[in-house]
Amino acid sequence: MAIHLSEVSFAYDVPKRRKYPIVWSLKDIHLQIELKDEMIAFVGHTGSGKSTLVQLLNALLYPTKGRVEIKDQKESFLLEKKFKHQEQIEETKKYRKWLRKPIPVKFKLKSLRKKIGLVFQFPEYQIFEETVLKDIMFGPKNFSVSSEDALKRAQEIANIMGITDLLDQSPFTLSGGQMRKVAIAGILASNPDVLILDEPTVGLDPKTKADLLQFLVELKNKFHKTIILITHDMDVVAQYIERVIVLKQGNIMYDGSKVDLFKQKDIIESCHLDYPTIVSMMMYVQEKLNLPSLNVYQYHIDDAMRELERCLGDHHES
Ligand SMILES: Nc1ncnc2c1ncn2[C@@H]1O[C@H](COP(=O)(O)OP(=O)(O)O)[C@@H](O)[C@H]1O
Ligand SMILES: [Mg+2]
Repeated sequence: MAIHLSEVSFAYDVPKRRKYPIVWSLKDIHLQIELKDEMIAFVGHTGSGKSTLVQLLNALLYPTKGRVEIKDQKESFLLEKKFKHQEQIEETKKYRKWLRKPIPVKFKLKSLRKKIGLVFQFPEYQIFEETVLKDIMFGPKNFSVSSEDALKRAQEIANIMGITDLLDQSPFTLSGGQMRKVAIAGILASNPDVLILDEPTVGLDPKTKADLLQFLVELKNKFHKTIILITHDMDVVAQYIERVIVLKQGNIMYDGSKVDLFKQKDIIESCHLDYPTIVSMMMYVQEKLNLPSLNVYQYHIDDAMRELERCLGDHHES
C-alpha cells in the first residue's frame, strides 16, 4: 500500500473574484509514503499546513489542484484535478472557475477511511454519541462489524487506553485528555492500516503520553501498521520517529531521517523547531567544555552517556 501526492495545492477557499487573492494552505506538495511498519512525524510551526495535509490523506479534504492517490493490492483511491489546457494559468477567470470546481469522487469514501484512520487535533469534533462506549463502537459498526464484535473490540481498546471506567459516561463530561483518549480509541477500534494522529499527546499527563506512544510502537511492530504523528515535541521525534517531514508555510522543507534533520541548523532555525532535550544538553556541554569532537546527535540517554564518557576520557588523556 502506498500514498502518493503529486503537485498538490490546497486552498480552503478560492474567491470567485480575482481581486481577492487565493490563500494557499499547501503549495505544490510532492510526497510518497510507502506503507510499511514505520512511524513518521509531520512537524512545523502552527499554521504551516500539517493538519490540512493529513486531512488530504484520508479524503476529508480534496486537493484544490494536483493528485492524491492511495493504492493497495486490491483497491486504488484517486482524487485528481489536473490541467487540461495550458491556458489555465494563475490569474484568469477561467482558472478560478476551474479551481472552484468540485472533484468527482469515484470510490467509496468509507472504504478509504476504514484503511486510513485519522484522529483530529481537536478530538471534540469527532465525538458525538451519547456514551463513550457507543462512541468507540461507532466506527466498527459503521464499517459493518456486528454489534457483538464491535462491543468486544471497544472493550478491548478501552482497556488498553485505560478508560474502561468512562464507558458509560457522556463524552461531553470528560476532560480534554480523556476526550483525546476516547477519540483515539474510537479510531483504533476500526483497526485501520494507517493511523494518523494529529498532536495526540497534547493535554495528556506524562504517564498516559508514554503509555500511548509505547502502544503505538507495539501496533507498528506487531501489526505492521503505519503510524503518522503530528507533533511539536522533538523529544517524541527523537525517541520514536525515523522519518520526519517538516512543513513551513504550506511547503515541505525537509523529508528525511531525524538524524540528518537535527544536523541542519538552517532548517531547524528557519522552521522554528526545537532540538530534542538530549541534543540541546549535549550542545551545551560541548560549548561549555569546548569539546569539538563530541558527537552531540544522541537520541537515547544511554548513548549520550557513552558518548560523553568516550569524549571526556579522550579529553582528560590529551
Ligand atoms: N477551516 C479553515 N478555513 C480556512 N483556513 C484554514 C482552516 N483551517 C486551517 N486554515 C488555514 O490553513 C493554514 C494551515 O493550517 P493548518 O493546516 O491547521 O496548520 P497546522 O496544523 O500546521 O497548524 C493556516 O494558515 C490556517 O489559518
Ligand atoms: Mg494543526
